[in-house]
Amino acid sequence: MKIVVTGGAGFIGGNFVHYIINKYKDYKIICVDSLTYAGNMETLDSVKDNPNFSFYKIDIADREEVFNMFENEKPDIVVNFAAESHVDRSIEDPGIFLKTNVMGTGVLLDACRKYGIKRYHQVSTDEVYGDLPLDRPDLFFTEETPLHTSSPYSASKASADLLVGAYYRTFKVPVTISRCSNNYGPYHFPEKLIPLMIANALNDKELPVYGTGENVRDWLYVEDHCRAIDLIIHKGTVGEVYNIGGHNERTNLEVVKTILRELGKSEDLIKYVTDRAGHDMRYAIDPTKINNELGWLPTTTFDEGIKKTIKWYLDNRHWWENIISGEYQNYYEKMYGSR
Ligand code: NAD
Ligand code: TYD
Repeated sequence: MKIVVTGGAGFIGGNFVHYIINKYKDYKIICVDSLTYAGNMETLDSVKDNPNFSFYKIDIADREEVFNMFENEKPDIVVNFAAESHVDRSIEDPGIFLKTNVMGTGVLLDACRKYGIKRYHQVSTDEVYGDLPLDRPDLFFTEETPLHTSSPYSASKASADLLVGAYYRTFKVPVTISRCSNNYGPYHFPEKLIPLMIANALNDKELPVYGTGENVRDWLYVEDHCRAIDLIIHKGTVGEVYNIGGHNERTNLEVVKTILRELGKSEDLIKYVTDRAGHDMRYAIDPTKINNELGWLPTTTFDEGIKKTIKWYLDNRHWWENIISGEYQNYYEKMYGSR
């Protein structure tokens, strides 16, 4: 099998490359990544010399480059992780989200149409369903929940999902879509809640909690997400959507306090800052379908996963310290300087 993994130098794509290369010793992995601020070759250090691994520095929205890559490689499977992925950045500058997340997906689908493919898998997000109210803990996102987006990020991901569905129905491209809840784990870029709070706590910097910190996210350890995608691309039904999440709901404040407790730091580091515009209140996945059809269940609880994640950030300081010492400083100042 030849698998193209787009966005493989990012957080989840990088974890997926490691997962597949370890599990399927005879698979060829072709990583495609344009190395934006979120892409990091260090994440691929341990696989870059593996004969089953190759890398193309390509923008998925660049039709000519993508078609050339398909022409050369003739992949069996494409798993599309490549995206602009940060809600706060999408509020600052939506344009690049449309280009990469929507147009880029369109280019990949066109290439699949032209060259043929066994499976195109779109890595989507539960954010396409909008949010749930805090006072209705009985409600969960199912695959039937209508798309109802809040941020330019989620709107771009929902648009991509619609395009994927259209290419299935109209052109019979064999697609699947997964919509996962918030991931955490190794190689998570420190602009996102969990790694940002770990890095700040370790540096005794303030921990910026948006609004009241009551917003709820449904946290999934990244390896559980990789395992779910592995099942979907090998055993999932073409044309179907699968929700992925494991009933690990926590308020942001609970997450932040857990991190502080694990690191032995004071809660005085918490600073409540101006809320995110249009901030979604609660995400919560109903994973019944993927459990019933593919036998998937998460294996890592939040309490175990957060310990493993903190340990990884302690053991791999060079990885994230390199990131936060560069251009990230300007980003941090812009987003948090006067918040
Ligand atoms: P990330 O921002 O860490 O990584 C994105 C990767 O895509 C980077 O390596 C970047 O260089 C690359 N990339 C960006 N634009 C590109 C382009 N135009 N062409 C080629 N490569 C490009 O993101 P992530 O958190 O790993 O998310 C991966 C996917 O999973 C995204 O599609 C995201 O929507 C989805 N997702 C993420 C989460 C989460 O909690 N992080 C949850 C559910 C779904
Ligand atoms: P984030 O990691 O950006 O993921 P998403 O918005 O896609 O769910 O944020 C997770 C939650 O944490 C979200 O409710 C926003 C909140 N948050 C903070 O309170 N402070 C921060 O500095 C960041 C980055 C996020």
